[in-house]
Amino acid sequence: MKKILVVGAGGQIGTELVPHLQKNYGHDNVIAADLRPEIVEKLSKTAVAVPLDALDTEAYAETIKKYEVDSIFNLAALLSATGEKNPQLAWKINMGALLNSLNLAKEYGCALFTPSSIGAFGENTPHNKTPQDTVMRPNTIYGVCKVSGELLSDYYHTRFGVDTRSVRFPGIISNGAMPGGGTTDYAVEVFYHAVKTGKYTCEVPEDTYMDMLYMPDALEATTQLMEADPDKLIHRNSFNITSMSFTPKQLFAKIKERIPEFEADYKIDPVKARISASWPDCLDDSCARREWGWNPKWGIDEMVDDMIRACREKLARGEY
Ligand code: SER
Repeated sequence: MKKILVVGAGGQIGTELVPHLQKNYGHDNVIAADLRPEIVEKLSKTAVAVPLDALDTEAYAETIKKYEVDSIFNLAALLSATGEKNPQLAWKINMGALLNSLNLAKEYGCALFTPSSIGAFGENTPHNKTPQDTVMRPNTIYGVCKVSGELLSDYYHTRFGVDTRSVRFPGIISNGAMPGGGTTDYAVEVFYHAVKTGKYTCEVPEDTYMDMLYMPDALEATTQLMEADPDKLIHRNSFNITSMSFTPKQLFAKIKERIPEFEADYKIDPVKARISASWPDCLDDSCARREWGWNPKWGIDEMVDDMIRACREKLARGEY
């Protein structure tokens, strides 16, 4: 990777992926693109930033040509709960951005990373130690897009030789930008609330297990996979990865150990309840470990300590 374009750079992942890539590949070799002018303005303080609508094929092609891009991280997507509010829009954005990315990667010889998700799985997927290759019949539009995206990305690789690679991200916990409209968002939001008010109302049922990952491991996964020796990759789109699996109740108990006055209650969102119940409880990520050396560093205790520290610092700086 020499010249990297991050599409959807102002989202939860992009906000931290851009500095991670800058550190590894050089400040000027990372182009941060986002649709929203106010986000581009903010990004431009710390990165080469460009306005880009990933659905605008011509503008997307111009950006690739102008910056001589050889690697694309396509992060533009609506998340699972938002997708259910407007399935047509979710299909249009998630698949439109992917198709443009695939076709342009093919045309300009770029490598392409597009995240998949635990949302690619569904009710009749084995929920415990979910295998790499298994039943995938999601019941959300987000998941339908993710499965379609995995298949299309593999197709472009075998049919046209495009270097497509991807991981199935679980919930990503981070303290840069907030996630928006995901089912796993509770595991981020709770820290902000616990630190500020000592109270949090959770929309996901207390005993629902979902896989999670702390952002530093998620960032490491993307660069590690994109740098992996292609001869060792049996799979491409997409690899199961995880580093922890817990329920809301278990996470809140960990927070309460550190913030004794913290109290959580529940107001269940039926959409999030249905989605979270259909997703795996814990993934088997042994293929990622074998094929490209996936080896996460952050467990629940270190993550909780670090999130509380980061949220306290943000609060002290008046950032929220
Ligand atoms: N975090 C995503 C969501 O909840 C899952 O990939 O939608």
